Amino acid sequence: MIGRLNHVAIAVKDLAAATAVYKNALGAVVTDPTPQPDHGVTVVFVELPNTKIEFLEPLGANSPIAKFLEKNPDGGIHHVCYEVDDIIAARDKLKEQGARVLGDGNPKIGAHGKPVLFLHPKDFLGTLTELEQV
Ligand code: CO
Repeated sequence: MIGRLNHVAIAVKDLAAATAVYKNALGAVVTDPTPQPDHGVTVVFVELPNTKIEFLEPLGANSPIAKFLEKNPDGGIHHVCYEVDDIIAARDKLKEQGARVLGDGNPKIGAHGKPVLFLHPKDFLGTLTELEQV
């Protein structure tokens, strides 16, 4: 059902510092920060030949990544995102198997303007898992 790895998201406290590490130490191509107030994060994309890394920095008072950064003050892998062809079919199949879909269970428009869903980490090896319809 799942296809390509779309991105790995890393939560960070300081986007500028995170960007500098990837640019300078790793020689990566990194985009400018994009605030996404609807998602409570500011995002930087690291463009790799085969996938993307996304840095997420909290934006606003109720950022969904604030708690994660309290527990992981140095930052850390927040979620992985896999591509699917049909997000509704994928959701229904997963729910049939007892997997928990976060939120109201309906896809939302994600960071790339495409429908996404998040699956409960407890059902997927302790890893918050995002599905994106491409
Ligand atoms: Co994501």
